[in-house]
Amino acid sequence: MPYDFNLKTENNHLIIGDLDANQLAEEYKTPLYVIDEEKVRNNYNKLFNAFNSKYDDVHMCYAAKANTSLAVLKILEDEGSYIDAVSPGEIYTALLVGFSPDRIMFTGNNVTTEELEYAHKSGVTINLDSISALERLSTIEGTEGKEISIRVNPMVEAGHHEHCITGGPKSKFGIREDEAVEVYQKAIDLGFKPIGMHSHIGSEILESEPFMLAVETMMNIAGKVHKEVGIDFKFLDFGGGFGIPYEPTEDELNLETFTKDIINLFKSKLEEYNMGSPSFYVEPGRFLVGNSEVLLTRVNTIKESYRKFAGVDCGFGTLQRPTMYGSYHHIVVANKMDEEAVEEIDIAGNLCESGDLFARDRPMPKLEEGDLLAILNAGAYAYSMSSQYNSRPRPAEILVNKKDVDVIRRREEFSDLFAGQSIPTRLLK
Ligand code: LLP
Repeated sequence: MPYDFNLKTENNHLIIGDLDANQLAEEYKTPLYVIDEEKVRNNYNKLFNAFNSKYDDVHMCYAAKANTSLAVLKILEDEGSYIDAVSPGEIYTALLVGFSPDRIMFTGNNVTTEELEYAHKSGVTINLDSISALERLSTIEGTEGKEISIRVNPMVEAGHHEHCITGGPKSKFGIREDEAVEVYQKAIDLGFKPIGMHSHIGSEILESEPFMLAVETMMNIAGKVHKEVGIDFKFLDFGGGFGIPYEPTEDELNLETFTKDIINLFKSKLEEYNMGSPSFYVEPGRFLVGNSEVLLTRVNTIKESYRKFAGVDCGFGTLQRPTMYGSYHHIVVANKMDEEAVEEIDIAGNLCESGDLFARDRPMPKLEEGDLLAILNAGAYAYSMSSQYNSRPRPAEILVNKKDVDVIRRREEFSDLFAGQSIPTRLLK
């Protein structure tokens, strides 16, 4: 059975929450990001309960980069989530939304000393990605005795695209396995109190093997560090990467088996190395928000050139993933939900680049100008990666909760295109 994306339909129309996507598009105009609050809450609870029913000290640090909308962060704050922040901007945003500093983990890459200082002053947990960062943190006033964590590269490569693999020999992230003992010892010598170890192998992983391998490797590294350096870990953080189906041919992760296998392995390694019972951390991004949002875009041009195109009112500035990674995003016609596919057509954006395509040769119902397309799984790495390229203001984003609707980002205007810019007066003469 092809994966059905759990869509609701009524009278040939796509329903989001309890509302007709076509009416939302009429009222709030297109292109429009529409997020379903219930889905975010359900995703969080589904994943959290799957882990927490097998180990009672679980923390989920939502990877804010996936979707940094304030409303989304607030919903997850309300659910009890922690935050994985990768920049001072994300720390600032999380604090603004109401996350207390002890619920924020800062995992930066190639961070400046000023950024480390900002993180330190904010009181968040700092997860260091290099010896350089460790040394520079120690030069900052008041860091003596500070609790820190270190990111290791477990040499497992996984992810949907080369750009999204964060473990393995080519990765710029983390420290090497063979230097872990030395680095933790150095942390102690510099006056820190190391309490955590972190790894993250990649994004959009739908099989359990890479995770199992990474957990096993990291636990062996942590076990060695515990034994040889005498570190009592308060937490072990296994990163994110839990995939969701993007194509109808893909299946959801079997959460029950997946979490059981991982937690069993985690527990057996804790026992093997006599490491007590530290907190188990994961950092899901996509899994919590990916399927909760759609991008509504209207067909304005049907063109039969050397190929057949349906041209829509946004482009890769609005949703980069198809152009950037060649990612598949399923697309449905929000006003023709019961119609079968009858033709293969390219769905093209409105930017002046040939790579600006949402789909090539996509089987679709008969498309006409005025049809409303819903690009699915636009909740993760979508708005957060958007740009104004071609001077196209970014779209609005609305939050739906059953019958309630709120605008959580206003549509940008032309003036937003120049925000912060100025022309030097000498050029105005
Ligand atoms: N933790 C760390 C340290 C990360 O770097 C990431 C994602 C995550 C957690 C969350 O990964 P997730 O659970 O969402 O897979 N722009 C790409 C994805 C880049 C992921 C970057 N790091 C895309 O659109 O597929």
